[in-house]
Amino acid sequence: MEKPVGHDLQSCEEIHQELTECFHEEEIYFLDHYLGKEAVRNIYYLRLANPVLERLLKNTLIHHVEVTASEAAGIEGRAGYFEHVGTFRDMVQSHLMQMCALLTMRIIEGDESFRESRQHALEEFYLPPANTLDELVLQGQYGPGYREEEGVARDSRTNTYVCMKLLTRTSRWQGVPFVLRTGKCLQKKETRISIQFQSPTIVGRGSSPNRLDIILQGEAGMRVYLQTKMGGTEPQFRPLILEDPLVCVGDCLPEHGLLLLEAVHGKRQWFLRYTETRAAWKLLDPLQTHLALPSTPLHMYAAGSGGPKE
Ligand code: BG6
Repeated sequence: MEKPVGHDLQSCEEIHQELTECFHEEEIYFLDHYLGKEAVRNIYYLRLANPVLERLLKNTLIHHVEVTASEAAGIEGRAGYFEHVGTFRDMVQSHLMQMCALLTMRIIEGDESFRESRQHALEEFYLPPANTLDELVLQGQYGPGYREEEGVARDSRTNTYVCMKLLTRTSRWQGVPFVLRTGKCLQKKETRISIQFQSPTIVGRGSSPNRLDIILQGEAGMRVYLQTKMGGTEPQFRPLILEDPLVCVGDCLPEHGLLLLEAVHGKRQWFLRYTETRAAWKLLDPLQTHLALPSTPLHMYAAGSGGPKE
């Protein structure tokens, strides 16, 4: 069963209840095609295979994390689905949350232990304290354009862009803000995790914080931003960028192909547990209730731009 499972916590529980009347839990495969992407799986394997990198991933060193899934495409004739779902349910609940979980989960081998650990990481995310939910989430819609799509209401308030903030209780990441954003009809297709490290304590002119970009889609690659001193008697710095493309080498199957093959072999590591899906709805339900209120702003942005200026 492909994501999204339901449209909120309650509908997800109802679907699960009906499914388990007909199937055993181990016969049900909840599919998120992002978990079939080699680049997304690599978030975990980069950590596993690079102890040096893994040691850098902790709250004393990191300032914030950005998880971005920007799409250049619009709704591609899928108004019948998208009008009732919107970007928040379509992209955040599963794809973006899974990327956050893979980045923060405890490294552990074995299919079930792995899923357990991924679930635990997801459950550790929470909404930061705020006076109003508008401080934590912002929605947008591309226009003119979206409301002119066939099958879309002329006064539609469906979001095609969302930006939000989360924190996690996972000890190594405690206090690090996670900013998630995703939208349709933006400048370019790019899926990226950017980890921005704390600013250096002694700052010379021109220096900026270190950053690690893991670009999963678009021009997939990794980029490390360091600073190097320029010539002269005064310490003045310029960025030194180390980068390399991330390419899949070996048996590179398209995501659904790979996942279906694994399902045939009963391999469940990269399928969602019901409890993971449930945890994501539980976390995000208050935000989606808020986004649906007529009083919650819906910011318009031009197609092909970087999203709402707000
Ligand atoms: C799907 C959404 O799950 O993911 C689509 O329903 C979205 O709206 C797509 O465009 C993005 O996937 P990808 O693989 O192109 O990043």
